Amino acid sequence: MSPAREEAYPVPDLGELGRRARDVLAANDLGTMVTAAPNLYPHMWSWDAAFVAAGLSTMSVARALQELDYLLAAQWDSGMIPHIVFSDVPGYFPDVDRWGTRGASPEGVKSSGICQPPVHATMLRRIVERATAAGGDDARLADGFVRRTLPHWIRWHAWLRSSRGGDGSGLLTIYHGWESGMDNSPRFDGPYSRVRPGKMEPFVRTDTLKVTDTSQRPSDEEYSRYLWLVQQMADVRFDDARLPEVMAFQVKDVFMSAIFAAANEDLAVLAEQFGQPDEASRLRQWAREFSDGVDSTVDPLTGLARDRDVLTGEWIGLPTMAGFAPLISTHSEQLLARQLEILEGPDWTGDPRLAFPLPASTSTTFEGLKPRQYWRGPVWPVMNWYLASCLLRRGDAKRYGQLREASLAQLMEGHYAEYYEPFTGEPLGSMDQSWTAAVALEWLADPGNG
Ligand code: SER
Repeated sequence: MSPAREEAYPVPDLGELGRRARDVLAANDLGTMVTAAPNLYPHMWSWDAAFVAAGLSTMSVARALQELDYLLAAQWDSGMIPHIVFSDVPGYFPDVDRWGTRGASPEGVKSSGICQPPVHATMLRRIVERATAAGGDDARLADGFVRRTLPHWIRWHAWLRSSRGGDGSGLLTIYHGWESGMDNSPRFDGPYSRVRPGKMEPFVRTDTLKVTDTSQRPSDEEYSRYLWLVQQMADVRFDDARLPEVMAFQVKDVFMSAIFAAANEDLAVLAEQFGQPDEASRLRQWAREFSDGVDSTVDPLTGLARDRDVLTGEWIGLPTMAGFAPLISTHSEQLLARQLEILEGPDWTGDPRLAFPLPASTSTTFEGLKPRQYWRGPVWPVMNWYLASCLLRRGDAKRYGQLREASLAQLMEGHYAEYYEPFTGEPLGSMDQSWTAAVALEWLADPGNG
């Protein structure tokens, strides 16, 4: 980071950032769950909830564990943790009726029928470490929680490994872009171009009533494909065994696979600590399998990791943030060094046009860049914290510190937005996104210098 750029930052007011973040989480808290965002996302999203729990644990370990408990209560019999657990707040589309999950989901659970990236074990390990360091009631609560829920988290990972990654590739398959969490990333343009919606119920979107600049959201054409995939799943009652036969979208998601590799390692640490050495060694094998799987996708020319379209066998090598999957999971020092060089180069954080030297969802020199549109270019604070926390785990306090400083400066604009325009720093999407506030609390709680 150049000194000139450092001087250009607003000096973050840490007290104000903390107060605002706590206010956002409190305002989005329904008591049972912290919704992902008011209005736009009035329910619990699986990976949002994990980040939110980490942020909550900086204030209350008890409230953080309650959040994870609420999510776990929606776990399907298969072991899958669904990507949305619905509250009773109306106004979101597609709702539980449109999902058609009643009968497939456990009795009394109102959820979607797909999953999201498994960051949970990583966040749980973090919360346990925080609680253990605090001692007293926090430590006791966390201890009891892990003893009680460890089998459920292991079942979640076992489901991912067998239903989505059982082919020996070391890569997880997704059947919907929503499963990646990066819905309309250009990574999925090729696979989606081959999804041809058939006859389905008409629908009215609600997201574009809330984000009124519709160019910040996926298009209607994209939405019709999203809904068609939901219908394909509902038609086979969300039967995992039938999805490979029927789904028009099947992608090996490299970023989710790296998250899974790291989460297996974190769950193994917890399993070991809580007297389950056999489970720990099984989880460590999965961690290695998926870390090798991720490494095997790296394009020798670009140095970026790639997804693969299962239905055509083609690699997807577009310059998106997913290309940095090895930063999360690799054991290769050489690959790590190459990835860091690319990350800090002119196509990513070294682009002098950036408002803050933070990675965007696609490279800022990508010809298809749409700097205001969802996963096609904006900067996502939650992703930057997650990547930085992976670097800190590796002992890279210097880079963590740089990303922290730039991220906190970015958030001084006055909101906890869902995503930001990379060149102007304009807040976009939801203005009070829970996971953005949650990671701000994490940045504040952990300066990273030991
Ligand atoms: N991210 C999706 C949405 O925008 C749902 O998972 O609604």
